[in-house]
Amino acid sequence: MGLLADTEPIHILIDGQLHDQLPVLDRAIHYGDGLFETIRIVGGRPCQWQRHIDRLLLGAERLGIPLPDIDLLAAESAAVSGQQGTGVLKLILSRGPGGRGYAPPIPAKTRRLMLSYPAPSGQEDNRRAGVSVRYCQTPASINPVLAGLKHLNRLDSVLARAEWDDPKIAEGLMFDVTGALVGGTMSNVFLWDGQRLLTPPVDRAGIAGTVRGLTLELATRLGIACLVTRLDREALDQACGLFLTNSLIGVWPVRELAGRRFDLRRLPRELIDRIEQAASLPD
Ligand SMILES: Cc1ncc(COP(=O)(O)O)c(C=O)c1O
Repeated sequence: MGLLADTEPIHILIDGQLHDQLPVLDRAIHYGDGLFETIRIVGGRPCQWQRHIDRLLLGAERLGIPLPDIDLLAAESAAVSGQQGTGVLKLILSRGPGGRGYAPPIPAKTRRLMLSYPAPSGQEDNRRAGVSVRYCQTPASINPVLAGLKHLNRLDSVLARAEWDDPKIAEGLMFDVTGALVGGTMSNVFLWDGQRLLTPPVDRAGIAGTVRGLTLELATRLGIACLVTRLDREALDQACGLFLTNSLIGVWPVRELAGRRFDLRRLPRELIDRIEQAASLPD
């Protein structure tokens, strides 16, 4: 399969077969009925594999999607990742073929999609110099049943990301309709008050990021107090710094939020370095 463009996948496996044609009756297309993981590839191998699989397992259990054999997922992921030195592995589990109507077929024939992409550019600059961030108007949906999962319904983020096209803005922060901070359109957010790390819970809205989990664990190991709590615009106004996390970006310190500038030297540097290190380690 040829390289189409920078952001196009270059290797695709569907149910272990080398092709890129998803049958039109797939429930992922009709209902977003499935889950996905976006995983960093380093040295031709997926990073933080176990954390991604754990979230996928939890999602499959909650949605009632039969999980394929984990060893098969690992083997196919390794095959697709091995085609990229450094890049991105996208793993999608769809509930598979289904008739018209919402009722899920029983038993479902889960479909496995693996795609690898080249590494996104500009990551190092953003990690070093920090990023500019804006506020989004689009609210993040509240739904405790789906909260935390990386399911295929991501229209909140699509609409929020469509709010700006200035390439100097790297990310937008989203709130739910009650004004509670949820996270970035594609990332989790951590506030730093000078002594403690604060981050929103993910039990009503948002995604339980793998790097979010890693950050909370590493912070605790370093003796840094972490508070998972409701945060709002006022909490952001009071924070002396903030950073964003996801599997591909690792950590992006926020240099500017809606016109307010932050001194990146005030952020907990050792913690950020450790998160970066761990997030880029192949399993
Ligand atoms: C909305 C949202 N929140 C959080 C994350 C972070 O998840 P992870 O750390 O597993 O990459 C992502 C990742 O794409 C995301 O899209």
